[in-house]
Amino acid sequence: MVSQEEHSLEKPGTYIDFEKMPGHWVLAQLGKRVLRPGGLELTRQMLSALDIQANDRVVEFAPGLGVTAQMALRCNPASYTAVERNQDAAKLVRSYLEGPNQACIVGQAGDTGLPSNSASVLYCEAMLTMEADHRKADILQEAHRLLDPNGRYGIHELCLLPDDMPEIQKAEIQKALAKAIRVNARPLTPSEWRVLLETEGFQIQTEAMAPMHLLAPRRFIQDEGFRETLRFIGNLLRHPTALRRVLRMRSVFQKYHNHLAAIMLVGRKSER
Ligand SMILES: C[S@@+](CC[C@H](N)C(=O)[O-])C[C@H]1O[C@@H](n2cnc3c(N)ncnc32)[C@H](O)[C@@H]1O
Repeated sequence: MVSQEEHSLEKPGTYIDFEKMPGHWVLAQLGKRVLRPGGLELTRQMLSALDIQANDRVVEFAPGLGVTAQMALRCNPASYTAVERNQDAAKLVRSYLEGPNQACIVGQAGDTGLPSNSASVLYCEAMLTMEADHRKADILQEAHRLLDPNGRYGIHELCLLPDDMPEIQKAEIQKALAKAIRVNARPLTPSEWRVLLETEGFQIQTEAMAPMHLLAPRRFIQDEGFRETLRFIGNLLRHPTALRRVLRMRSVFQKYHNHLAAIMLVGRKSER
């Protein structure tokens, strides 16, 4: 059996177990391409703050299906390198790349093997949330190592509200998310995200938030378009286990809608 975290984009029915696979791969399998909590709008805000120019060397951690990769490539950076741990996703991202200065390697964001000071811009979306706290720190340290002095760093992640949420409530939400999306999601509060970035040597310059509407109909159509949304619904109806998974995820997102949001932070590398 192939690991579903490393290979997940085969055709439904081959070896896919919709019951057990991580929620983002259930959605991807059914045709959803935008897998981050704040949708394309928050991604646009992150890219605008990152201000990618023709002389930038861009690194993206965890590009998933390559939606943001394509947006970043439209800025014609000097180079683009992605680090994605899922081999099928990496293969898909490579199909958008051209020439010797664009690459997608299969690897771990916390230990990329890329040279130090090899990026002027680095970003990741919907990935740190899925990592334990010590792994978040490892990944930020790797981002810090890869960036030039003063390099720009962006994240787009899930957050918990309010800032002073009691630990017991955090644990309850994390448990409900883990059960529904089958990933040990560890979202932080906005202050905790800020402190984490600052502790690891980034000076935050831009911040924005958006509702966590990943599975809300309006956002879905905004992100995927009307036709792709209809196609997704068709696929959903053909796969009852996937339908159950998606409804379960949606009900958890709805239950905690006052306490879940998307956050985007962009900063510069500073001394640690
Ligand atoms: C929720 S998806 C988000 C994909 C994409 N960034 C987006 O926002 O649509 C999470 C992605 O992170 C990748 N991933 C998770 N942990 C990773 C790690 N430690 N290193 C590299 N990729 C990772 C997964 O394979 C998957 O593609």
